[in-house]
Amino acid sequence: MGIKYFEKERFFKLDTPNTSYVIAIVSSEGFVGHAYYGERIEDVTGIAELMRVHEAPFTPDTNARDRLSFLDCFPTEYAGHGVGDYRESSIRVKTVGGHSAVQPYYVSHVIYKGKKKLEGLPATWGSEEDVETLEITCVDPVLDLQIVLEYSVFADTDSIARNVRVTNRDVQPIFLEKVMSGCLDMDNENFDMITLHGSWARERRMQRNPLGKGVHSVSSLRGESGHQEHPFIALLEHTATQNRGQVYGFSLVYSGNFVAMAQVNQFDSARVMMGINPEDFSWKLESGETFQAPEMIMTYSAVGIGGMTRSLHELYRKHLIRSPYRNKKRPILINNWEATYFDFNETKLLEIAKEASQMGIEMLVMDDGWFGNRCDDNRALGDWEVNEDKLKGGLKKLVDGVNALGMEFGIWFEPEMISPESNLYKEHPDWAIAIPGRTPGLARNQLVLDISRKEVRDCIIDKMFKVLHSANIKYVKWDMNRPLSDIGGACLPADRQGELYHRFTLGMYEMQERLLAEFPDLLLENCSGGGARFDAGMLYYSPQIWCSDDTDAVERLAIQESTAMIYPLSAMGAHVSVCPNHTVGRNTPFATRGNVALAGTFGYELDVTKLSDEDKAMVPRQVAMYHRFNDLVREGDYYRIDSYQENHYYDCTQVVSKDKSECIVTYVQVLAKPSSHSHKVRLEGLKADKQYALSIVSVKPGEELLQKTDRIFSGATLMKGGFVIPNAWGDFQSTIYYFEEI
Ligand code: DGJ
Repeated sequence: MGIKYFEKERFFKLDTPNTSYVIAIVSSEGFVGHAYYGERIEDVTGIAELMRVHEAPFTPDTNARDRLSFLDCFPTEYAGHGVGDYRESSIRVKTVGGHSAVQPYYVSHVIYKGKKKLEGLPATWGSEEDVETLEITCVDPVLDLQIVLEYSVFADTDSIARNVRVTNRDVQPIFLEKVMSGCLDMDNENFDMITLHGSWARERRMQRNPLGKGVHSVSSLRGESGHQEHPFIALLEHTATQNRGQVYGFSLVYSGNFVAMAQVNQFDSARVMMGINPEDFSWKLESGETFQAPEMIMTYSAVGIGGMTRSLHELYRKHLIRSPYRNKKRPILINNWEATYFDFNETKLLEIAKEASQMGIEMLVMDDGWFGNRCDDNRALGDWEVNEDKLKGGLKKLVDGVNALGMEFGIWFEPEMISPESNLYKEHPDWAIAIPGRTPGLARNQLVLDISRKEVRDCIIDKMFKVLHSANIKYVKWDMNRPLSDIGGACLPADRQGELYHRFTLGMYEMQERLLAEFPDLLLENCSGGGARFDAGMLYYSPQIWCSDDTDAVERLAIQESTAMIYPLSAMGAHVSVCPNHTVGRNTPFATRGNVALAGTFGYELDVTKLSDEDKAMVPRQVAMYHRFNDLVREGDYYRIDSYQENHYYDCTQVVSKDKSECIVTYVQVLAKPSSHSHKVRLEGLKADKQYALSIVSVKPGEELLQKTDRIFSGATLMKGGFVIPNAWGDFQSTIYYFEEI
């Protein structure tokens, strides 16, 4: 790791263990340009020539007559607006005079050990030993607008974190209409682009297309990152695979409206940008005020998509997640949502807890329906008082009862919402987000609270704290079940209405921060109608996020594949549920449901009292499997070996311990294939010159968890030759193989 400034040549070199990033200051005016991002280079002599400033149209200080031609092809680190770069801009303003142009020029820089917090926003962090930061201060002298470009490199991962701060130094206010978190201009080297698309219960399906000319983007205007598109893109060589080829990954640490784009222009250069969606965004900066844009992560891998994935996993596990649970085994929980929906009382919950505790399940989570008159999803959001008709004797009695069974207790909230049929709405109808004169649209019969307002946040947090202090509660599931619409804030003046979306997101972050400050040992799991807010921003607050409301094992293979392409397995909320599955009606073996959930946080979402004897007997075996392998799953290196989404028959993943002494290989045969060879999979990440003994993991009652075999393989055989997995009889069959160095 290291950041170095080459004073004579006027460039910065930022090194991570395997990558280099070079920024050059060009011309007497100080254009901040991008020279290189790729495999680590020690000697970068001559690298600035990659910016082509020695070719016509030259820089304005040698050829002022062609200033526009220069600006429109210069590879910049932060693109101005309205003065000649006709590509997508990184920043756009509205001055009191109505003008929109901005052009940043280099003024100074500073390099320091460590990394500052981002005011009000989630961001990566690290000590002075493991992170170093460069701040480049630029100014638009006409606007007297200061733009600080910040870059941090980490000693232990090939990722670079960037952010931007904008300060109004003029006496007049200015309106920021667009502030991207970063910009990267590269040559389009026959790139493909990966984006993620989905829907409720079908989150984050991967799409890979050749990167053609024009603008290609994903975005959200829902006030959350959303089920539909994801704050992530990757550009990769057309021939790149999981373990070969160049891959650039970009991820935004933000949970509100975003845009992530790549634009290929007339010269076949590719501009990548991401940040807050400029649509419906405007931020008034008074004189002396600063606006902080969210953080953007860049990562480069010369060894395929898998290399990008492992860098992001390292970064997020070590430098983003803060929870005391980040390196800890999480309690195996059972959630009553799919077991009872709204139809439960304390007796039913205690019945589930009793049975579950005997099977080794460690925590009961009481989901939606415990408060106000919440008998269904039409009412009571905002009335965060325990419904004692439902939970006779109150919450403490229930929690004590669960604790007496040796289990911990968790609870569900949806703090950002309000039902029109609620006491809170009767008291404060103006607390819902709405535009005067326009009836706000309902979704799931609920409205969104204007949590940009402090009094609204205070009231909700106060109610939550009362509940959480009233009993021994160790876990909170924080849900959000509708997107924002009808954007109007009763307390914002006309010229600040464009701030509401972002202020809402900041308000939500502030509430989560306060919750964690009050209950530092709380295990927080974020959720949004399943996985609509599964993003890097939320990981800063919760070490795990509910991945999807779809708990079907086959659908989960796809959802978890693309989620795990970016986020660590330890973050993926994954549960075993009943069949036929409540979302898709599919029947899969109980063992396969457990094997698929093992790749995430692992838990149950069913009524254990109603399981067949056969399935019931398997639960303690799955619990044992979780305890045996969770350290490995949580902390190991993840390899995507084969994808059911690509081959349509089977799925295979591998997790290898950091010391490469053990690994598990999870194989799911989704569809049986007649008259076909067994599948050969090539493993990765092992020691080529060591030997490994094979065991097969069994969750059959009465059998040892590890069924040892006498089969021995060298690491080289497994990685170069491969490992042959026999065809199984029937669909949805799965096996976990365990290899241990001998
Ligand atoms: C959506 C969540 O994803 C579910 O798990 C459940 O908590 C419901 N909301 C409750 O309303």
